[in-house]
Amino acid sequence: MIFTTAYIVLGTLLRAQALLNSNLNYQSSSRRQEYAILGIDIPLVERRAWRRNSEENAPDELNFTHSIASGDPWPESIILCTRIAPTGESDKSNVTVEGDVPLYNHVTKPYIDVDPHPICLEWSVFKTNNGTVATKSLEPFTECFDQFVVCNSENMSRLGKTETASREDDHLDKISLAVFPCSNYPKGYFNAYGNAVRRHNRDYVVHLGDYIYENADPTGERADKPPHAPFSLHDYRTRHNQYKTDPDLQLLSKD
Ligand SMILES: *[C@@H]1O[C@H](CO)[C@@H](O)[C@H](O)[C@H]1NC(C)=O
Ligand SMILES: *[C@@H]1O[C@H](CO)[C@@H](O)[C@H](O)[C@H]1NC(C)=O
Ligand SMILES: *[C@@H]1O[C@H](CO)[C@@H](O)[C@H](O)[C@H]1NC(C)=O
Ligand SMILES: *[C@@H]1O[C@H](CO)[C@@H](O)[C@H](O)[C@H]1NC(C)=O
Repeated sequence: MIFTTAYIVLGTLLRAQALLNSNLNYQSSSRRQEYAILGIDIPLVERRAWRRNSEENAPDELNFTHSIASGDPWPESIILCTRIAPTGESDKSNVTVEGDVPLYNHVTKPYIDVDPHPICLEWSVFKTNNGTVATKSLEPFTECFDQFVVCNSENMSRLGKTETASREDDHLDKISLAVFPCSNYPKGYFNAYGNAVRRHNRDYVVHLGDYIYENADPTGERADKPPHAPFSLHDYRTRHNQYKTDPDLQLLSKD
């Protein structure tokens, strides 16, 4: 099935240009040394896409199924995330997810089939909440706004809000956190997520887990998907997708 998750690291911000450089799956977090292992070889990915004679999806068939999110703030960088795909469905991999497994590998694809349809996304970061003044670099402890757009199209994500971290030695009078634990989708609505946006100003959100539950509650309008305890990679992705479509969770993630 067709999907691309874009984890994009913004160091010095420039409008994304190259096709695959704007789709850095599992790019190392904030380019920090300790996560270098999560980085991928972009030239290799480009060569592979070229070999497959890939065909792009039409922009109007693509949907930001999980809206957008941002996190892992550092003084001059932040990670922006989105999922862009025709549907919320993922690869039907039945690989079991249990015990220690090697990291997801783009070359040997032990867990999922690599999709032959590359998706080109651009992103921008703005100083204003109407998306008019683009910024090229980030300042510490500063709010900014972000948006993804499917290349060469009008199909764009919602405008997100994000905030860089302070420098280690900065003096701050006040920092506000919204803290959440234990979010169980079938047990009720996620209005607490939405209320953190609608009613309060906060700098950051901290989720202590559980972010999803592995139980199976197959009844009611928020019945768990799949309707059994997740077991395979596809099961987990289906469950994760279900949570991620919640409007209040999407509101909190983008804000
Ligand atoms: C963006 O994609 C969605 C989902 O496929 C579609 O409904 C919408 O019309 C598209 N918007 C534009 C401006 O192409
Ligand atoms: C896009 O995804 C959202 C889930 O976030 C869904 O509610 C909506 O119906 C989808 N739109 C299209 C056109 O597929
Ligand atoms: C996954 O699918 C393959 C091929 O259909 C099958 O051989 C294998 O037993 C399945 N594994 C699991 C864990 O269901
Ligand atoms: C966008 O916001 C800025 C700053 O708040 C304001 O000066 C500008 O007029 C706004 N532009 C539009 C098109 O609304």
